[in-house]
Amino acid sequence: MKIDPWSSTTYQDYSRLRDEFGIQEFTDDLWNDLPHPHRLLRRGIVFGHRDFQLIHDSVVKNKPWAILTGLMPSGKMHLGHKMVIDEVIYYQSIGADIFIAVADVEAFATRGYTLEETKEMALNEYVPNYIALGLKPEKCHIYFQSENSDVKDLGYILGKKVNWSQMIATYGFDGSTNMTHIFSPLLQTGDILHVQLKKYGGIRPTLVPVGVDQDPHIRLSRDIAQSHRLYNVIVTKDNKIGVFVKVDKNIEKLLDNAEQVLNDLNFSQLKRINDYKAIYISEAKEHDIPLIDEQLAKSEHNFNGYGFIQPSSTYHRFITGLTGEKMSSSKPESALFLTDSIIDAKKKIMNAKTGGAVTLEEQKKSGGKPGECMIYELFLYHLIEDDIELKQIYDSCTQGKQMCGNCKKYASDLMEKLLNILSDKREKAKDKIKDYF
Ligand code: TRP
Ligand code: SF4
Repeated sequence: MKIDPWSSTTYQDYSRLRDEFGIQEFTDDLWNDLPHPHRLLRRGIVFGHRDFQLIHDSVVKNKPWAILTGLMPSGKMHLGHKMVIDEVIYYQSIGADIFIAVADVEAFATRGYTLEETKEMALNEYVPNYIALGLKPEKCHIYFQSENSDVKDLGYILGKKVNWSQMIATYGFDGSTNMTHIFSPLLQTGDILHVQLKKYGGIRPTLVPVGVDQDPHIRLSRDIAQSHRLYNVIVTKDNKIGVFVKVDKNIEKLLDNAEQVLNDLNFSQLKRINDYKAIYISEAKEHDIPLIDEQLAKSEHNFNGYGFIQPSSTYHRFITGLTGEKMSSSKPESALFLTDSIIDAKKKIMNAKTGGAVTLEEQKKSGGKPGECMIYELFLYHLIEDDIELKQIYDSCTQGKQMCGNCKKYASDLMEKLLNILSDKREKAKDKIKDYF
């Protein structure tokens, strides 16, 4: 199995994806003590992560951290696109610095839009919707890939540690792939890592919330971040914690520096072995590694290192289209767009695939199947905030007490409310757009 970020595959079996790619399960302990956890976290829609622990700890300990995500504008914004922005807005409310890349170069390379077309879509469609959904301008930066030279330079420079075989193995590129497309994963690495440059807030944990199709890019960025580090902190085979110098220049000085950093962290039982380029820390435990790594990372600037902390990520499930396939801008009947008219939205909801039985009688007897119902999915992902109300709908559906007609009516009423609010707020957003760039 391969994850292809540019295809339109839908994924059904998320736990298999997790196992196959080494994505961790997004367990309750990672979010239940965060402030007012978001419904997408509470409901298992965010199903996997890499290194979210770092983010959790930053929130709990009130330390700086950042969010970076990106979107490739492709026509109109629909409920699938809304999800990641909902997450971003939640993380903004609990203290993250926010960065959002408009992937105009990627859209140019892979979807055939001009940079101008993408800019137009971003400014007239996407950003007004972000604002309408509640994104605040404070500590928030939206930028275009094509216009950020720090991002582009970083992608170019960091590409040194990636070779063509890796790119083929990860992305299936071949002799016919255009060069801008080939470069786009590196540009995305530039997006993800640039927020840790001094100018953008410095070394700190960074979360990239995305759909699981983006995992190849996350793995690439994590590999690249790590391969440019000067130090490694690991558990050795005989279960000791060791700091290793990864480069061959300045070894003595780097070890001196590491000793200093460890002393500052109050580790005193250090065993330094110059020949191994290593310092072993007898009293350290595995859970000390992130802090040691972070402090070492921050000191790498003194030796011309980047010191990037590996970015963390979360993965959300995709919302199913109303017709049962993927929700996609290219199939308007499958998608609810944030700018749909009330009439169109209602029509699509009324025609949506449900988990209802073939006859009313049958449904009263054996109940409906919310797990296969696009209406229930709308409630779950977007329309119902109250977990108790959601549970009641689930139960009355499976017990055959709730009929699909009523349910659709309720969904379209809620959708109408949402669309009205968004359209009012979008109007007011128009002259605020510049505050975000
Ligand atoms: N590749 C993403 C997409 O297909 C867009 C993107 C660009 C992105 N840069 C990013 C996503 C950085 C997350 C982080 O939509
Ligand atoms: Fe879906 Fe509602 Fe029908 Fe149940 S009753 S299958 S939740 S539309």
